[in-house]
Amino acid sequence: QAASADTLLLTAARLLDIRDGSFVENAALLVEDGRIVAAGPRGDIEAPPGARRLDLPGATLLPGLIDMHVHLTSSPDYHGFRRLALSDERKAIQGVVHAERTLYAGFTTVRNVGAGSFGDVALRDAIEAGEVPGPRLFVSGPPVGITGGHCSDNNLLPAEYGLEGEGVADGPWAARAAVRRNIKYGVDLIKTCSTGGVLSKGTKVGAPQYSVEELTALVDEAHSRGLRVASHAHGAEGIRNALEAGVDTIEHGSFIDDSGIRLAKKKGAWLGMDIYVTEFILGEGEEKGILSESLEKERMTGETQRENFRKAVEAGVKMIYSTDAGVYPHGHNARQLSRMVTFGMTPLQALQAATLNSAEALDKDGELGALEPGYLADVIAVQGNPLDDIRLLESVHFVMRDGVVYKHSRAQD
Ligand code: ARG
Repeated sequence: QAASADTLLLTAARLLDIRDGSFVENAALLVEDGRIVAAGPRGDIEAPPGARRLDLPGATLLPGLIDMHVHLTSSPDYHGFRRLALSDERKAIQGVVHAERTLYAGFTTVRNVGAGSFGDVALRDAIEAGEVPGPRLFVSGPPVGITGGHCSDNNLLPAEYGLEGEGVADGPWAARAAVRRNIKYGVDLIKTCSTGGVLSKGTKVGAPQYSVEELTALVDEAHSRGLRVASHAHGAEGIRNALEAGVDTIEHGSFIDDSGIRLAKKKGAWLGMDIYVTEFILGEGEEKGILSESLEKERMTGETQRENFRKAVEAGVKMIYSTDAGVYPHGHNARQLSRMVTFGMTPLQALQAATLNSAEALDKDGELGALEPGYLADVIAVQGNPLDDIRLLESVHFVMRDGVVYKHSRAQD
């Protein structure tokens, strides 16, 4: 049950300083009208008379997590041809359930990168209006891309069915027009695909989609209207094309090579590598309807992506937290943190990717991603020290968003 937002003194055993990994022991957080007004040792913070108080004994407070790549209107139970049976309305209804699950898992902000019929715009607005619980959403609407391409089109049926994706746009001017249409219907960012993908029929992960000319037009149109661009890209050439064109975030980045790494650093682009989802695709994918050609593509992609994740981290590319939840179950978003540690990050770096860095890539630094005065009161808690055991983030027991408590369950120990 959501409590009302006013003035609240939240106390806990400790608070993680996400910038340097230090802890404030016996911590307190003063929250007023949805924002943090003070954070520090309990003794230093005075609550105004009448403030509500909430103590979380033994808990560590952290900023709410951010996932930059989810598909709330996609269900992991409907892959391949099964998805054709779901209307956009049905997917939107599933999205309501998925949004709640995501919030309860500690993700107080997510970026939704691809949804039909602007179902993600509707979901964002319903959450904003307080009609349904969910994370703060930044949404793309339909991805913009080429005919027959990954994420923009749908290649499952023969020509006589006339199945075509909403965001198909060939040529620079068509790409600009598609961006304009998406903005008209309320999106916060533009999603495009500059290579083929794993889960689409008949596309190749290594093959570029769009010319640099088309991508440049798309990015220019989006940037001139104040929106950022996320590009799905697995293959090295398509990654470079997108970076050349000036996209803000590269999603997947599986086959990024040294020149791609250099270019990402030079351009200041962020890299969001979804290195958990391969476990689901190769584990449960087949029984969920994932096409055998997709399973084949995943076998050629997942491992290399993990090796390249390590390379990118070592090279100092700016990393965000992108999981592709929706391919696998919503609410399992935090599972990737431990994989990021296995493949080269410190626990603090993994947490920074999912807070500070992602906030910056959303252009929301100073508001999201830290527990500091002036920030929105998005707070989660785990029992114990998350820098010793990153998997604690998989069982978040307290969730506050905008100063409203959505989850407060009994701590496990
Ligand atoms: N949506 C992505 C695609 O179809 C999923 C890629 C998952 N595999 C991976 N190794 N990250 O291309």
